[in-house]
Amino acid sequence: MNLNDYMELINKKLDEYMPENDFPQDIFKSMKYTVTLPGKRLRPIMCLESCRIFGGNIEDAIPTACAIEMLHAQTLIHDDLPCMDNDDFRRGKPTNHKVFGEANAVLAGDALISFAPQIILKYSKNLDSEKLVKIMEEYVQYAGAYGVIGGQVADIEAEKNWKNNAFGMKPDELLNFIHNHKTADLFRLPLRTGAIIAGANEKDLEKITDLAQKLGIAFQISDDILDVISTFEEMGKTIGKDNNAEKLTYVTLYGLDTAKCKLSCLLEECYDIIEEFQVKSEPLLEIISGIKKRVGIDDNHTR
Ligand code: IPE
Ligand code: IPE
Ligand code: MG
Ligand code: MG
Ligand code: MG
Repeated sequence: MNLNDYMELINKKLDEYMPENDFPQDIFKSMKYTVTLPGKRLRPIMCLESCRIFGGNIEDAIPTACAIEMLHAQTLIHDDLPCMDNDDFRRGKPTNHKVFGEANAVLAGDALISFAPQIILKYSKNLDSEKLVKIMEEYVQYAGAYGVIGGQVADIEAEKNWKNNAFGMKPDELLNFIHNHKTADLFRLPLRTGAIIAGANEKDLEKITDLAQKLGIAFQISDDILDVISTFEEMGKTIGKDNNAEKLTYVTLYGLDTAKCKLSCLLEECYDIIEEFQVKSEPLLEIISGIKKRVGIDDNHTR
């Protein structure tokens, strides 16, 4: 399957899994709104592809893949709130709180955090309880205060304050913590759960976790760069906000050129890890070339 095939499958399943007329309708409509807006679906694709690479049946990973996209949508809904990044547009459309109001947006995000694992438990018919427990362990680790929430808290605390060694950390250490958790944790979750569903061994799990960390950080660096050089049309969200908000990002700390250099190096390391897998993964390679293309890095890779 290529990226488009994966995307179609995921979109179909997301639509199927998300009710819109259950009571109270406001909450279900609000949840479904952001989940089904057109995103790149990178995280669910990574989950299905990781399952495939390690010899699993992708059908078994579909509920987990979709649940992770729901969790991702939750992080976006809350990230856009006025008390966080205060954004009016997401995926080319008004943000959740602009359409449904702040109270419903907070509640839709809350609801998605528990709705997502409910989908895994309800639809993963072929997974035994040992695998399901492992998936739940991964989910609660990366969705919570040790994971993406911890990263978001540090991101907000660092805003306007990173030059004063917020949390007693040097800016580069703090930046690493933020990117590692607010973004790389939601790359670890799909890549690791896909591998777990396939029954991958410890060594392979380590490899895929290493890839998740590097690709996750690389992805956030690309997002930081695109916030400076891209357009609303391309990104579907307002550009130039990080600098205005005095965010701690790769661009605000190191400048555009160094950020691009760091991104290129990390992506090369990702290629090396992907090459070590027994099964060739076109979709993972396509994800990397997609990042390069968006940022304008030459894609002279011939693998
Ligand atoms: C946005 O993620 C949040 C970041 C981690 C930068 P994506 O760029 O994957 O967003 P969608 O899912 O395609 O909208
Ligand atoms: C968001 O980082 C990461 C999460 C949503 C967890 P950003 O705040 O940079 O993402 P965008 O730019 O709003 O998509
Ligand atoms: Mg943010
Ligand atoms: Mg944001
Ligand atoms: Mg951003």
